[in-house]
Amino acid sequence: MSDALKVALLGCGTVGGAVLRLLSEQSEDLAARIGRRVEVAGVAVRRPDRHPDVPADLLTTDALGLVTRPDVDLVVEVIGGIEPARSLLLAAIGAGKSVVSANKALLADDGVALHAAASEAGVDLYYEAAVAGAIPLLRPLRESLAGDQLRRVVGIVNGTTNYILSRMAETGAGFGEALAEATEAGYAEADPTADVDGFDAAAKAAILASLAFHSPVTSADEYREGISAVSATDVARAAEIGCTVKLLAICERVAGADGADDSVAVRVHPAMIPTSHPLAAVGGAFNAVFVEAEAAGELMFYGRGAGGEPTASAVLGDLVAVARNRLAGVAGPGTTGYAGLTVRPMAETPTRYHVSLDVADKPGVLATVAQEFAANGVSIATVRQDGHGEAATLVIVTHRAPDAALAATVTRLREMSAVRGVTSVLRVEGLS
Ligand code: HSE
Repeated sequence: MSDALKVALLGCGTVGGAVLRLLSEQSEDLAARIGRRVEVAGVAVRRPDRHPDVPADLLTTDALGLVTRPDVDLVVEVIGGIEPARSLLLAAIGAGKSVVSANKALLADDGVALHAAASEAGVDLYYEAAVAGAIPLLRPLRESLAGDQLRRVVGIVNGTTNYILSRMAETGAGFGEALAEATEAGYAEADPTADVDGFDAAAKAAILASLAFHSPVTSADEYREGISAVSATDVARAAEIGCTVKLLAICERVAGADGADDSVAVRVHPAMIPTSHPLAAVGGAFNAVFVEAEAAGELMFYGRGAGGEPTASAVLGDLVAVARNRLAGVAGPGTTGYAGLTVRPMAETPTRYHVSLDVADKPGVLATVAQEFAANGVSIATVRQDGHGEAATLVIVTHRAPDAALAATVTRLREMSAVRGVTSVLRVEGLS
């Protein structure tokens, strides 16, 4: 074999460390699969003294110098965040290097500009590890399903929140207690905001929607709601109607008034889903993404969405792909925004609600409550009443209606004298 392909590694934390180790342990197999040896040219870190396991001659604090070095062919970025990652990747691409990144925030915010730069430079930009860790998902969307029309992509793409919601369902705990348990178990970060408030899932949803619908979508286009307001009551109410609560990233094509698809809806929020839905069985910190396509039908991708080795597996898969392309003198498929579909505002996105109310058990109360749904143009699918003394609990599941109409209905219900309390409000997905 002739000269080795040289890889620059940006970042050497949990994922970077696993990438380095696997590159070394699997070097013979990787060389055989690629047709050329892969060598690490350097590892850029902020504090070299914190990486005693990495050969000192590979470590550098000069990341820009490393990614633009003439002998470097490929750059792997696992530092995360927007800057300096964006500047470094643009510099690498500008210098003709192919890039593998695990950076969901950057790709979600600036994917269009990075893809344009890569396309202009004729290099690869791959980022399988940015969404759902080890799960092969972006390449299936970008390549295997490129001949199909996708209708929906619905995923559990954040392991921390899935762990918390799973524990709430299993133990009856409230959100705070389950979060404390997740922190103790090492699933939640010391500052869990990015996971708990849905930012992490929203970045992944933007990447999924852009690829699935050939339209540029950024996190800023999306509706995002985390799980901190999900209560033990919500989880119990879900169980009563045969559902479980999950934080979902939902990307779907939405038909216009004439029935033609004319936009996409992209949102992240907790929702009840039937326990019979394949995503309901995804427990603990696992991820899964359910895809509905015109010709392929329903597909599900399941696996580990985080962790050093699972994420490194996705990084190395990309590395092999871009290395092969490099040797063949080609660039792999990029992204296409040709469809140019716009993102529909959440207020106009059709959703379904589950609403649980404490009311007085008196004549006319149900009629008054039902009237509020009707006044907002919301059709009720089911109503259940559980009486207890002079009070009753009403559990209402609606049909699909614009989210704003459902929210306005709930606002009015909270103001009604006949309603003693609105005890649970959650969107519902996947009910027939
Ligand atoms: N923090 C993420 C999770 C993993 O909990 O799934 C990295 O995106």
